[in-house]
Amino acid sequence: MIPPKPPARPRRIPLWRYLRLFRQDILSAQPEHLYRTWMAEFRTPFFRSYLINDPALVRRFLNERPDDFPKSSRVTEGLRLLLGQSVFVTNGEIWKRQRRIIDPAFEGGRLRDTYPAMLAAADSAVARLGRLGEGPVEIEAEASHAAADIIFRTLFSIPIEHQIASEVFAAFRAHQRAQPILNLGAFLPLPRWMPRLFRRDAKTTAARIRSLIYELTAARLAEIAKGTAPNDLATKIMTTSDPETGVRFDLREMVDQVAIFFLAGHETSASALSWALYLLATHPEWQEKVASEARGLGPGFSSLSNLKVTGDVFREALRLYPPVPMMVREAVRPEEFRARHVEAGAQIVLSPWHMHRHERLWDNPDAFDPARWQSDAGRASAREAYMPFSSGPRVCTGAGFAMAEGVVLLSKLVGAYTFAPVEGKMPVPVAHLTVRAQEGIWLALTRRDSN
Ligand code: HEM
Repeated sequence: MIPPKPPARPRRIPLWRYLRLFRQDILSAQPEHLYRTWMAEFRTPFFRSYLINDPALVRRFLNERPDDFPKSSRVTEGLRLLLGQSVFVTNGEIWKRQRRIIDPAFEGGRLRDTYPAMLAAADSAVARLGRLGEGPVEIEAEASHAAADIIFRTLFSIPIEHQIASEVFAAFRAHQRAQPILNLGAFLPLPRWMPRLFRRDAKTTAARIRSLIYELTAARLAEIAKGTAPNDLATKIMTTSDPETGVRFDLREMVDQVAIFFLAGHETSASALSWALYLLATHPEWQEKVASEARGLGPGFSSLSNLKVTGDVFREALRLYPPVPMMVREAVRPEEFRARHVEAGAQIVLSPWHMHRHERLWDNPDAFDPARWQSDAGRASAREAYMPFSSGPRVCTGAGFAMAEGVVLLSKLVGAYTFAPVEGKMPVPVAHLTVRAQEGIWLALTRRDSN
């Protein structure tokens, strides 16, 4: 059986070497002690950064005093080109206002409304895989396709085959090739005065994506004015006024938000689904449990509650391979962390990747064990050290959506096919925008009804 953990971790490495390794592959380069420590300090000539695994400190940043630890501009800067002033990159009052308008679109009742679109996209994904024929399949690409389909269907009521939707999807892939979007640069000594070099083709691809999104959003605004708009997430967000000021998003602001929904909503879900399928391929006994549960998935949203094992499998995949491996915050004033003085401007790295595999916070942390989610010990660990969607007021707006989507896709796919690992193709996790496999995730598929 292929173990889910990355290849052997280095023991202790000096900073210069760490930075080199970091550039190559941030995840497998993590030294062993970072999975045991509560806090590690990194000194660079320009700033200090702190990797924090202490649950009480993480609560301070995310839940208790989030305003004192805004998102670090060292990370958000690279996202500006594509995301403008989207809710993912803003801080302070602008961010608060954006969340007041966006959050109602993702509340429970609205989530229920998106369910038929999720089912339809999952059925399309099953059919698409069927057309690929026999032989190994690179499942990350297929998962991206399925997750992008779900975002377009729920946001704009159009499938991925729609001309603009498929163009956005293609342009987005080109953009990622031109510029890896999330530069987890908090450890790297990037001085502030260094010009931010956006490569010319990254500028072109970002502009192309934004103009396509502009087209969709402007058309929707016109439909809203005529009273002919479908009742989907885009309409909901564009017709919601800020309860404090009564003002709605204008067209430009909405384009920024659509860009992040598309980006945050499809890359992350695709990463989670791919790793979940890989883990099931390497743990056939769990795969069979998910397959037999798939019969419980029905046309009604409430049928999701029948899929308890599938839910636990997806949660466990998010623990071992959190799609957003690290988040970076900045201290706005001097602080004390674990009796150590910390200067204002310090970079704070919150790491689902390390917390979720921390030796002092989980039993058998590198093992794939969905049963832990039904144990008292597993639930206690999760309360302290599980944050695939972050936590507190800045928690992922799409968390409930992503859990429903993940379970639907997993259930439909595993209900239709068996997934097996491919000899010689063990995926090595690397941090791109999300946690991806260095050379993709290759799995062999067989139709269940042809067995
Ligand atoms: C498995 C899937 C997903 C995972 C693991 C995930 C994870 C995360 C995490 C960790 C953050 C916080 C980042 C930070 O603070 O630095 C975040 C933020 C966000 N996510 Fe997700 N996400 C997922 C799916 C989605 C979906 C489906 C949507 C929308 C449809 C979405 C929309 C957002 C938005 C708008 C934010 C920014 C929230 C803010 O800063 O106030 N995400 N997500």
